[in-house]
Amino acid sequence: MKDALEQIRSEALADLAGGGDEAAIEALRVRYLGRKGELTTVMRHMREVAAAERPAMGALLNQIKDEIEARIGDALAAARGRARAARATQSIDVTEPGRRPALGRLHPLMQTMDDVVDVFRGLGFSVAEGPDIEDDYHNFEALNFPADHPARDMQDTLFIDGGDLVMRTHTSPVQIRVMETQPPPLRVIVPGAVYRHDSDTTHSPMFHQVEGFMVDKRVTFGDLKGVLTYALQRLFGADRPVRLRPSFFPFTEPSAEVDIGCFACGGRERTCRICKGSGWLEILGAGMIDPNVFRAVGYDAEEMSGFAFGMGIERMAMLRHQIDDIRLFFANDVRFLRQF
Ligand code: DAH
Repeated sequence: MKDALEQIRSEALADLAGGGDEAAIEALRVRYLGRKGELTTVMRHMREVAAAERPAMGALLNQIKDEIEARIGDALAAARGRARAARATQSIDVTEPGRRPALGRLHPLMQTMDDVVDVFRGLGFSVAEGPDIEDDYHNFEALNFPADHPARDMQDTLFIDGGDLVMRTHTSPVQIRVMETQPPPLRVIVPGAVYRHDSDTTHSPMFHQVEGFMVDKRVTFGDLKGVLTYALQRLFGADRPVRLRPSFFPFTEPSAEVDIGCFACGGRERTCRICKGSGWLEILGAGMIDPNVFRAVGYDAEEMSGFAFGMGIERMAMLRHQIDDIRLFFANDVRFLRQF
């Protein structure tokens, strides 16, 4: 029996010295130490051993079992170490194409708004914003809309609870809010949402404007024309003609409407759908800030001068991208939005 045990011991140690992965070592454990393993099988023959020799045989068997178990532990640790090292040295395939992250993008209205704001920032204008809910004073009164003036009706105002508050009908009240809190000189550009009781293919109850104004001593109508011509040519092309027509706004005097030459037909086609054959596209309203506005904010109306302008962003984006229904901007159809 002793020979049989020694035989198992030398075979087992030789097998375990050979390396192998975790599964191979587990197979060796089953083969030598398992319930039907070689050592267990020898143990069954213990009864046949002479009683005097049994204690020594039992001790030898236990010693061999412990030794094999210890070697299995070492071999397992070594196998795991080798597996870890193999994983670590697996090379990264730098030629494998990356996974493209799903990127969002700016809404076409915000793109147009940013483009306008950026041109004026380049001219030293700083950005200001105001509240969407305004009081009658800032939306109308301080902008020289007298009480009961018909211009208030023209704005299709959305009133809040029939009280003093309105959804602002334009971004012009931010002129008042900035001048109330900051002394001249000022160059300010104001992007924002505005609201009117109006809805069809070219009007939305919520839309966007960019307002701008400049205040200093001796600002002239020539400054207004120069700044707006430069800005519109930056936005619509360097050779785009710009013209001013007389108009009226309560908060400017004199007032003008500013047109650019039609970029769809170049002013040449009577049947042009974009300019309706006129050759010109109305882009913004502007004028020299009315002295009554300066008085309302506590500026010296004799000393101060300035110009202001306001433009509709939806209209501008529709012209730029030849979009014929304003509601497309607000329907959130990704097939539309992905085109920009
Ligand atoms: N607030 C005007 C509107 O909503 C647009 C406008 C016209 C703004 C002339 C101005 C301006 O600052 O000078 O129709």
